[in-house]
Amino acid sequence: MKAIVYEEFGSVDVLKFEEMERPIPKDDELLVKVHATSVNAIDIVFRSGAKLLYGITKLMAGFKKPKVKILGVDVSGEVDAVGKKVTNFKKGDLIYGASRNHGAYAEYLCIPEKNTAIKPANMSHEEAAAVPSAACTALHGLRDKISIQEGQKVLIYGGSGGVGTYAIQIARLFTSEVTAVCSTDKLSNAQSLGAKAVIDYTKENFTKNGQTYDVIFDAVGRKKISYSDCKNSLSEKGIFVTVDLESVVFKQIRNKKIKSFMASVITEKLDFLREQIEAGKIKSVVEKVFPLRQTAEAHKYYEKGHLKGKVVINVLE
Ligand SMILES: NC(=O)c1ccc[n+]([C@@H]2O[C@H](COP(=O)([O-])OP(=O)(O)OC[C@H]3O[C@@H](n4cnc5c(N)ncnc54)[C@H](OP(=O)(O)O)[C@@H]3O)[C@@H](O)[C@H]2O)c1
Repeated sequence: MKAIVYEEFGSVDVLKFEEMERPIPKDDELLVKVHATSVNAIDIVFRSGAKLLYGITKLMAGFKKPKVKILGVDVSGEVDAVGKKVTNFKKGDLIYGASRNHGAYAEYLCIPEKNTAIKPANMSHEEAAAVPSAACTALHGLRDKISIQEGQKVLIYGGSGGVGTYAIQIARLFTSEVTAVCSTDKLSNAQSLGAKAVIDYTKENFTKNGQTYDVIFDAVGRKKISYSDCKNSLSEKGIFVTVDLESVVFKQIRNKKIKSFMASVITEKLDFLREQIEAGKIKSVVEKVFPLRQTAEAHKYYEKGHLKGKVVINVLE
């Protein structure tokens, strides 16, 4: 099968297009013919070998050499074969999901059935491959970690990228009071996704405008903002929840107003998202699609930042 392989950590140049053996599914896994995958921050961390989270990322990615040869977690595709213990899927089903062990930058991927679900019928594979990691992160943070409620005022910090575009739409499922912070050319997109108010961070600092929020969801991470920056913009019971694991791991033990989380991509979340997508309440914003051969270009594009939605890789092209 065709795959993008890496055997050493480094720049995008370590990503090579090669022929590989097709993987064989374990008892609880699906063998999926991958139609599309998408680029996530974890792919960049694994490729570069960056030492983050007190070294945990090296433990996961490998110390001297990469533990996995093929990157890519998100997938949308067709089930080609199922392991002996798989009960919910059969050959021919169209599924989407995310593999904790990477492997999606390839024509075939083995993935546990618990990390997949039937793909939304009203989405292309390219749109569906954008969903799993980014939308499950937003869902995990807003619904599962802090249980946002109708009437709460929610501010999405970074309403433009992968996590942020889904976060606006997921917050809107629970409350109509959603404000999105993004750069100038992303404001109208944030409004079209359901934000009632938008703030252009290049012109206004939301932490200085006197407004308060019940939830501030940091969808950017990378230490662009902290609880300290936001604490005067939180209501009395307000919570700062961030996708950035590193900055709060210790602080959150001491301060109940700070939350962070490690998102999981599981069938329950993917089923929930499919229902909302098929009801027309959530859509994918795809900024650019690259063919599998140009995965290095896709990484370069993702790394320049300031994206509107997701960068997707079409594996069939
Ligand atoms: N905790 C978890 O389980 C988990 C899971 C997945 C991802 N993550 C993290 O989630 C974060 C977002 O990932 P992603 O794939 O969505 O990234 P992304 O697509 O690159 O989106 C980041 C967005 O932030 C915006 N931005 C950049 N600087 C900003 C600033 N100063 N203020 C406001 N917005 C700013 C950018 O657009 P504009 O500047 O043009 O508006 C960009 O579109 C990453 O840090 C990733 O590591 C965490």
